[in-house]
Amino acid sequence: MLPLGPASAPQPGHPGYPPGVADGEGFLIRARITGVGSCLPPRVVTNDDLAALIDTSDEWIVQRTGIRERRWVEPEVTTSDLALAAASEALEAAGIGASDLDMIILATLSPDHEFPGTACFLQAKLGVAGCAALDVRQQCTGFIYAVSVADQFLRTGFCRRALVVGAEVHSKGLDVSTPGRDLAVLFGDGAGAVVLEAGETAADGPGILSTHLHADGSGATDLWLPAPGMAYERFMSADLLERRLQFPQMNGRAVYVNAVKRMAEAVVEAVAANGMKVEDVDLFLFHQANLRINEAVTERLGLLPERVFNTIDRFANTTAATIPLGMHEALRTGRLEKGMVVCGAAFGSGFTWGSMLLRW
Ligand code: UT7
Repeated sequence: MLPLGPASAPQPGHPGYPPGVADGEGFLIRARITGVGSCLPPRVVTNDDLAALIDTSDEWIVQRTGIRERRWVEPEVTTSDLALAAASEALEAAGIGASDLDMIILATLSPDHEFPGTACFLQAKLGVAGCAALDVRQQCTGFIYAVSVADQFLRTGFCRRALVVGAEVHSKGLDVSTPGRDLAVLFGDGAGAVVLEAGETAADGPGILSTHLHADGSGATDLWLPAPGMAYERFMSADLLERRLQFPQMNGRAVYVNAVKRMAEAVVEAVAANGMKVEDVDLFLFHQANLRINEAVTERLGLLPERVFNTIDRFANTTAATIPLGMHEALRTGRLEKGMVVCGAAFGSGFTWGSMLLRW
């Protein structure tokens, strides 16, 4: 039996934060990632493929964003399909079955349906019932928020094993025409998943060391999908379609400026809360919205560029799937090894931003 943790678990730096739940013998209860998986649809869409459909060019996209290609699903594939593939791989890597899970948390901005949450569809596809299933709708910061939610439940003893998935199908919701070109070129489809398990560890042992979450709703309409919604006379109508409100809209400049500022702040907050410096971090898994954003954060914080793991050239922005996809890719390519200190940070629609620091 795990000892019960505190009723609430404040964040590092906040009064009363416990470094973990001590068991009296110098060990802590931490959430640890025990399996990682990912899924990328096989169809590659290059910048030239997009330039054949809309007024854009490979040169513009590479120069402004660093994106060279992205993956897009076939019409019949859903977010929960991608989530299932990533989750199955993560469960296998962890050496457990779906029936061992106490909780499924799925972060997405592209749910299969308006309700119920896509975590429920994923649970059914995993062939299990009974455990909690929860959606997180925090866009590009979704995976960080979802890991933080799982971390609280695991450290307090509410559950022992959680599946956290980030999955997105963007391609079906984009305005792939010249008026929508600013957003159409940025996004890709994909999914990443981790299994998190609560366990005892030494203070310098593996696990999630901290998470920090933030939001500023005054930026909500700088990157949003206006319709459908209950804000209108009808949830969906011909009028809304005519006004093209079913397509995402973005103030690219405002997102860019805030992303650089907030991601840098989130990294500083994460390392400071753990008594570390940015030099102590072996690998940065940043959200991948624009290579220039990550280069600016790298420069602002004086990070070693080789410690920042970027995937945007091949996968584009996969929103909530980005960080677990990157984690899996880093593992697969030998960039992520046992004992490393890893910092994940993200910024996105909401505005939302946050970080997680962990030892692998
Ligand atoms: O997770 C959050 C997701 N979003 C982001 O992170 C986006 C953050 N913002 C950005 O990355 C950049 O603002 C963009 C890459 C979206 C745009 O780059 P920019 O340097 O800020 O370009 P801009 O919006 O100022 O547009 C410059 C020009 C415009 O033409 P005019 O008005 O100067 O004639 C745009 O119409 O580029 C045009 N443009 C394009 N041209 C070719 C916009 N999109 C495209 C395109 N291809 N896809």
